[in-house]
Amino acid sequence: MKRIALFAAAAFATLPAHADRLPIPADAPPAFAAECGGCHIAFPPSLLTADDWRRVMASLDKHYGDNAALDDRTRRAIGDFLERSAGSGRRTEGANAGNGALPRLTISNWFRRKHDEVPAAAWKDKRIGSAANCAACHSRAEMGSYGERELRMPGGYLSER
Ligand code: HEC
Ligand code: HEC
Repeated sequence: MKRIALFAAAAFATLPAHADRLPIPADAPPAFAAECGGCHIAFPPSLLTADDWRRVMASLDKHYGDNAALDDRTRRAIGDFLERSAGSGRRTEGANAGNGALPRLTISNWFRRKHDEVPAAAWKDKRIGSAANCAACHSRAEMGSYGERELRMPGGYLSER
């Protein structure tokens, strides 16, 4: 019994570091999923730095070509959550293209490396449209789960490689 408990604890401890699990932290305000999960999935906070999130939340009226403006209270609640759950280091490097462009988790070195098997044509397929459309390929992206068995790429790009 004791051994099982220890094993379970050890397995749990390794979970956050594993790349196929990027869960939304449990202390997320309800507004995060409601307001940031409508046009795309509510992205995992750990894939951008606190500075990056501050910039995203400071320009919601000019949001990657869209208007995602919120009232001040909601914006602050989501912003505080994103900053305290933000990532650093390896998974966030390269997210800034410069030229004043907003940060993108889909251009980080880590994201590119994880997706180096995806053929260029797949990103442009109209059923996918953009790297930010995580749920087009990761059937459980909304649950923060990115396991290989949960991949559903429209067009069968993976089997063609
Ligand atoms: C009105 C629709 C809409 C809402 C609401 C919205 N977004 Fe977005 N968001 C977009 C669009 C459009 C893009 C660009 C997607 C693309 O390039 O394919 C985007 C892109 C992003 C990106 C960059 C994705 C990448 O390529 O790395 C981040 C980060 C982001 N949104 C965060 C948020 C957060 C946080 C909220 C909630 C405060 C939010 N979004 C709410 C429409 C929206
Ligand atoms: C065009 C389809 C496609 C899109 C869109 C896409 N991915 Fe992926 N993703 C893949 C493929 C293919 C892999 C590699 C499969 C593997 O090695 O498990 C992968 C791997 C990953 C992994 C690594 C899993 C592991 O086990 O190491 C993560 C994390 C991930 N994607 C997150 C995202 C996030 C977050 C988004 C959206 C911002 C996204 N992906 C968008 C196809 C896609």
